[in-house]
Amino acid sequence: MSLVVYGFSVGKEQSTTNMLADITIREAAPSEAAIILHHRRSMFRDMGEGTVEELDRMVEVARPWLARALADDSYRHWLALDASGRVAGGGGVLLCSWPANPKDPCTQRTVILNVYTEPKFRKRGIARQVMLIILEWLKRQGFRAVNLHASKEGRPLYEKLGFQATNEMRLKFGPP
Ligand SMILES: CC(C)(COP(=O)(O)OP(=O)(O)OC[C@H]1O[C@@H](n2cnc3c(N)ncnc32)[C@H](O)[C@@H]1OP(=O)(O)O)[C@@H](O)C(=O)NCCC(=O)NCCS
Repeated sequence: MSLVVYGFSVGKEQSTTNMLADITIREAAPSEAAIILHHRRSMFRDMGEGTVEELDRMVEVARPWLARALADDSYRHWLALDASGRVAGGGGVLLCSWPANPKDPCTQRTVILNVYTEPKFRKRGIARQVMLIILEWLKRQGFRAVNLHASKEGRPLYEKLGFQATNEMRLKFGPP
């Protein structure tokens, strides 16, 4: 399901100052691309999408793409780390070239990707905090909307943050 949030009207209680006590969230460096790829692979695995071979192929195809995108800042990623520096989760934003909309004269479209929390760190508010930091960052950059595709598990979190379903459609070529 494709979702969008407009205006980033996150409440005061959701501000990025409301950090989880033992979790630090910071932007990932290009040298941490392997962690992001691990999260992307794990995210699809946990969503029940793709065979082992398909997930491995995705990682191989994404590896050079991610290196380029982190280097030219067209993809930004944030990591959540616990007190001992273990990566607990993260999420990122893709900045795509876009020919502007009537209500949003911006030549970039933003898409949130790769939102993932390691199973043992789930249900502590980490994904929510990662999302709030990403939304604050987008707001500071002047963006007026952001899109994402929600998994079944992620959808309640996004809806609580104000995301709404869009009119996006999809036509698949080849086998279903
Ligand atoms: C979806 C996902 C990212 C959520 O990560 P998370 O860190 O557990 O998310 P949060 O803790 O912020 O919120 C999850 C739930 O825990 C609840 N929660 C938060 N803190 C809590 C606490 N201290 N005690 C109990 N529950 C808590 C939240 O209210 C939320 O409930 P909801 O699902 O009913 O809205 C994670 O489950 C995941 O990685 N899933 C597999 C991949 C995936 O689907 N990614 C999303 C792609 S769109």
